[in-house]
Amino acid sequence: MKLHVIVLAAGKGSRMKSNIPKVLHPIAGQPMLHRVLATANTLAPAQIKLVLGHGREIIEQSLTDANSTNVVIQEEQLGTGHAVSLALDNVPDDSISLVLYGDVPLISKQTLQTCVEAARQQGLGVVTAKVADPAELGRILRNDQGSIEAIVEYKDATDEQRMIDEINSGILAAPTSLLRGWLSDLKTDNTQGEYYLTDVIAMSVADQVPVTGIVAKDETEVLGINDRIQLAQAERIYQRQQAHALMQAGVTFADPERVDIRGQLHCGTDCFIDVNTVFIGEVTLGDNVVVASGSVVEDSVIGDSVTIAPNTVVEGAMVGDQCNLGPFARIRPGSTFAEGVKVGNFVETKKVELGPGVKASHLTYLGDASIGRETNIGAGTVTCNYDGVDKHRTVIGDDAFIGTNSTLVAPVEIGNRAFVAAGSTVTSKVDDEALAVGRARQRVIKKWISPTRRKQPSD
Ligand code: UD1
Ligand code: CA
Repeated sequence: MKLHVIVLAAGKGSRMKSNIPKVLHPIAGQPMLHRVLATANTLAPAQIKLVLGHGREIIEQSLTDANSTNVVIQEEQLGTGHAVSLALDNVPDDSISLVLYGDVPLISKQTLQTCVEAARQQGLGVVTAKVADPAELGRILRNDQGSIEAIVEYKDATDEQRMIDEINSGILAAPTSLLRGWLSDLKTDNTQGEYYLTDVIAMSVADQVPVTGIVAKDETEVLGINDRIQLAQAERIYQRQQAHALMQAGVTFADPERVDIRGQLHCGTDCFIDVNTVFIGEVTLGDNVVVASGSVVEDSVIGDSVTIAPNTVVEGAMVGDQCNLGPFARIRPGSTFAEGVKVGNFVETKKVELGPGVKASHLTYLGDASIGRETNIGAGTVTCNYDGVDKHRTVIGDDAFIGTNSTLVAPVEIGNRAFVAAGSTVTSKVDDEALAVGRARQRVIKKWISPTRRKQPSD
């Protein structure tokens, strides 16, 4: 039987105190709703229906082809049962329906698979969790044999029922025909006057359809986000999970609580990641890479034995083996470094190819350039790539030496083993093995008295 997923996200999320819809607040850089949709997609469903109400335009705009869904609009939020019944429209009877929540972002594929499996056995699967603080969540009522009998909402529960520490995550799966039947019988005779999806559990029991409670391995998996404190908790939980998985794969973290991975971080063996580092998008580190404190690495591939010294920002770069970057370097998109390159403090690069062993150790801007092997770029060198309208390239050969404080006005070419004298402004081609001196010759004016010394004290 085909699987149909329904994701509920019509609520207002007023406790976020935000102009952004709750489900678009990010966990590890990704809107929590997108995370739920990505997890749902791993189950290869026939379709996903997304129930929207508050902030629906912004939410719809946020969806891309990768997480496209069939949107169902719930004009008035009459309850979770009402939301699901709207979404069941056009869902074939001979299918399985799985209900997820846009604000329960950390649910795992495994738990959902077990839940769906219960439904495939012609039963009702409901995901629960044993929690330290059940707060105002729905309580799971079990009989003496331990079978689930019903779910009671906190607001409708007796004091005794409120003592129960097994809670309803809200996530459930059932054969669609059965679910549709139960939903049509829902009443609003409860404290909140809503159609409670949770009432289908007691209906299932009454119809002698087996109810399977799938207790989540970890209560954090079913954490629902209602405010920014829970958002921060979910963020930390997720970050910890990622760091732990990487440690198990052979990565050392100075402190796994002080790293942020907002995307995918792939690491070779024996990498060392210091505190307060941020990884964004797709980042691949080779073996023995050191990423020091305060560095941010985004959408880049880093080779083996590379050291990224403190406070270095690397974005959209390909970095070869044994390179040394930073401290305080800024490597911008399109930077491609061969092995053994050194890009030191206060060096900025953009759209550059640096050959093996190129060194730019201090205070330099290299943009729209290609630089041959073993060339040394002196401190303060600037490629003047922009004339106010267009960008132009600087091409430097192998084993060249660019003296300190050189200004290379592009488009310009500097040959192999060429030498540029310190302080030069280079505006035309420098041949192989040539010396370019592009500055006024020094003059020394003897016995020169400065205006201040010329001034007499009595004046
Ligand atoms: C619900 C469950 C409760 C469970 C808790 C877990 C019911 C009646 N109660 O309570 O047992 O412990 O979730 O977090 O189901 N929504 C809609 N349309 C509506 C109402 C809600 O789309 O008409 C969406 C909300 O946007 C939200 C989700 O459904 O994503 C849950 O709704 P909410 O009102 O937060 O339910 P709870 O009271 O938290
Ligand atoms: Ca809720």
